[in-house]
Amino acid sequence: MLFNPKPKKRREELYDRGEELSTIEHSIEKGVPLIVLLGIRRLGKSSLLNVALSETPVKSVKIDARRVYSQLGSITQSALAELVLKGYLRAFPRERIREVLKGVRGIRIAGVGLELSVGKGINLSEVFERINSLGGRFIIAIDEAQYLRFSNARYPELIAWATDELENISFILTGSEVGLLEDFLRIHDPESALFGRAHVKIRLNRFERHQSLDFLRNGFEEIGLKVRGEELEEAVDELDGIVGWLTLYGYNRYLGLPHTGALRKLKEDAKKLILSEFSKLKKLSSRYELVIRAVANGRHRWRKIKEAVELLEDGRIDDKNFSNILNNLVRYGYLKKTVEGYFIPDPLVELAFK
Ligand SMILES: Nc1ncnc2c1ncn2[C@@H]1O[C@H](COP(=O)(O)OP(=O)(O)OP(=O)(O)O)[C@@H](O)[C@H]1O
Ligand SMILES: [Mg+2]
Repeated sequence: MLFNPKPKKRREELYDRGEELSTIEHSIEKGVPLIVLLGIRRLGKSSLLNVALSETPVKSVKIDARRVYSQLGSITQSALAELVLKGYLRAFPRERIREVLKGVRGIRIAGVGLELSVGKGINLSEVFERINSLGGRFIIAIDEAQYLRFSNARYPELIAWATDELENISFILTGSEVGLLEDFLRIHDPESALFGRAHVKIRLNRFERHQSLDFLRNGFEEIGLKVRGEELEEAVDELDGIVGWLTLYGYNRYLGLPHTGALRKLKEDAKKLILSEFSKLKKLSSRYELVIRAVANGRHRWRKIKEAVELLEDGRIDDKNFSNILNNLVRYGYLKKTVEGYFIPDPLVELAFK
């Protein structure tokens, strides 16, 4: 159902996104070696990726880099190799994996079930090379790929090499910390390994107002709940076109909450979630929170935000240091920069810091 709060997996559960989906599908068909899918949080990147992978006939593995990072604290080559190989094992006949792995340093396979163990000595490029050499196209999709930067391995270089040399392997990378992923890949930087490489970039946008309303209408129709037009309007006023929030509002109503109760619960839950997501930034510097609070409370110009933060800190802040904080908030997707100044792109993030 449309209001299912988990990332969607099947085409029928995905509202709209037809254009983005067909861009991904065509790119895969044409053998584009690198597809980058960008968008702030909760716009449906993982859902779109899942559906695209399930629709294409090309076999694939999906790796959630955020999850690997939270489990291991870094994204090692051996962890990635293990996930890639396990995905390969699921996608292709088992005999094949023996061939892939024959003689690869750092790997052991045992038993009829082909239990796989990947040691520290593994070389990911060798694994990619083997997979490539067996023929049969294979997509390596990495969700929240900006987390790959937490590693000793130089993944952009590795991906650049693979996209150049290995015709059977392609990559799809997603990122919600849009600026961070772009900085990490440095696709536009002449000095970087990925510069000038053939790639397709897709930016996921929030729904337009009419789409948000239509999404809610369809969702309620699907669960057989009659809802008044003003309620839909109000929900979209408050949640904008962020499909993740619209979905949770619909889900709360599906669970039986009335309109105001559903919105209230969503805001409470969202606030907890947003503050806990933000805590990793807060650990780096307490200024991040002061800045985002200043913006949430109506300061949008560089100078005004700075004055507000200085007032709270009761001292002057170095201009360069302050700009760094602001720019990082933009890179992480918490702020967007426009000609009118800095704004918070998600109304519930704004509310959480008011
Ligand atoms: N096109 C869509 N149609 C219906 N529901 C959607 C759609 N896109 C996303 N959703 C729903 O919105 C929520 C967020 O989606 P998803 O997790 O795919 O987004 P995301 O961009 O990957 O978010 P995050 O940045 O948190 O990883 C989920 O509940 C998902 O079911
Ligand atoms: Mg996601």
